[in-house]
Amino acid sequence: MVVKGKLKSGRVFYRSLHKNYPVIQRGKGVFVWDTTGKRYLDAASGCLVTNIGYGVAAVADALREEALQAGFSHGSIFTSAPQEEFARLITEQAPAGLDYAYFVSGGTEANETAFSLALQYHQQKGNTRKWKIIGRRLSYHGSSFATLSAAGNRQRRTMYSPLVMPFPLVPAPHCYRCYYDLSYPSCGVRCARELEQTILSEGAENIAAFICEPVIGTSAAASVPPPEYFPMVRDICDRYDVLLIADEVLCGYGRAGRYLALEHWNVTADLVTLGKGLGGGYTPIAVVLIHEKIHRVFLENWGKFIHGYTYQGNPVSCAGGIAVNRYLRENNLFAQVELKGALLRDKLVDLFNRYDIVGDVRGIGLLMGLELVKDRNTKESFSASLGVAERAREAAMEEGLVVYTGVGGTADVVPRDYLIIAPPFIINEDEIELLVQALERTLQKITRELRG
Ligand SMILES: Cc1ncc(COP(=O)(O)O)c(C=O)c1O
Repeated sequence: MVVKGKLKSGRVFYRSLHKNYPVIQRGKGVFVWDTTGKRYLDAASGCLVTNIGYGVAAVADALREEALQAGFSHGSIFTSAPQEEFARLITEQAPAGLDYAYFVSGGTEANETAFSLALQYHQQKGNTRKWKIIGRRLSYHGSSFATLSAAGNRQRRTMYSPLVMPFPLVPAPHCYRCYYDLSYPSCGVRCARELEQTILSEGAENIAAFICEPVIGTSAAASVPPPEYFPMVRDICDRYDVLLIADEVLCGYGRAGRYLALEHWNVTADLVTLGKGLGGGYTPIAVVLIHEKIHRVFLENWGKFIHGYTYQGNPVSCAGGIAVNRYLRENNLFAQVELKGALLRDKLVDLFNRYDIVGDVRGIGLLMGLELVKDRNTKESFSASLGVAERAREAAMEEGLVVYTGVGGTADVVPRDYLIIAPPFIINEDEIELLVQALERTLQKITRELRG
């Protein structure tokens, strides 16, 4: 949109009221430009969203066409061809059993919907006491009270404490900073076994579901679990009739090098939430993939799901989602993530070897995390008051590079400084090189600032 006259109206309630946000003007491929003409390589894909890059005309055309065709339909009155087709496409690409799709507008709504599905599923089976959702200490599932209740993000959660439900939280697998101070593999994957202990101490008859991010996003910057973790979790959930909800809003839909991240461990969840990259940044859309066994219980009992959103299954968003999916397949992008991720990883490891402010490089596919530390040997973090991650992000912006940050900060650990590097899947080798060069200049700058 071209705005004439003053660029900022002064009427936006910003996330940070003191920050001077650059005004984005356009994007093409992996680059975006602001209104001063400055170019940025978007190594954050917006926030792990613009996986097919900016400016894809086919997606814009699909959105326009459907907006003119049937811009809106309400889920209680109509279904639509785009909703039907998108559901067919994404369930056919998913592992067997994940046969049904419920479209919503964002990741928070998707996880809320998964909770509602889980509770109603158990109620129809006569398990009316199963209402608690177990979450993990290092996690983020959205900004609603229910999703905050099942996550450990202290920063976001404590201010609402009377409204946040006391859902049990278990440690997440995060070997760089093991909750138990153990080492893999001699730990015996204690974090997975803790799930069983928690189910038993809370009473399995009270537990509806376990929600987790297969690869942890902003709460631990691309922390990947050990190979045994998810097979153990699947087994525990089955034993106690606890549904497994995989929050793949950030790590799914190709980002971790598989259609679903859980496919790395040959595990299928009962409910999978996808968001972010599903609409590629062109349209707000997310989905819950629902296992056939859950659908069957609804079909044979109540025959309805008591839930709903105005924009659920929106035909325009579904048409955009189909176009993004087509682009991913026609350009073979799902298959390229692993190779490009390996190239990026090698270059980040090289930076790790040369800059000791980087305490750890981790991740999978095109979802990589750097943890910045004061002391690599002791893993001591910088003081939170220094705001190191945010300073690094600002320094990267000066270098024409967008990175994503996180500060962890869970129920029981101090905040950490994370940089997430997750460029669009279309990035090429030269652009990976540009990205790493700008990141290196960023690391040099903050090292100078922090260490003199
Ligand atoms: C893992 C995960 N789940 C859920 C959400 C919430 O998604 P949304 O912001 O679209 O509501 C996010 C957002 O960052 C996320 O990273």
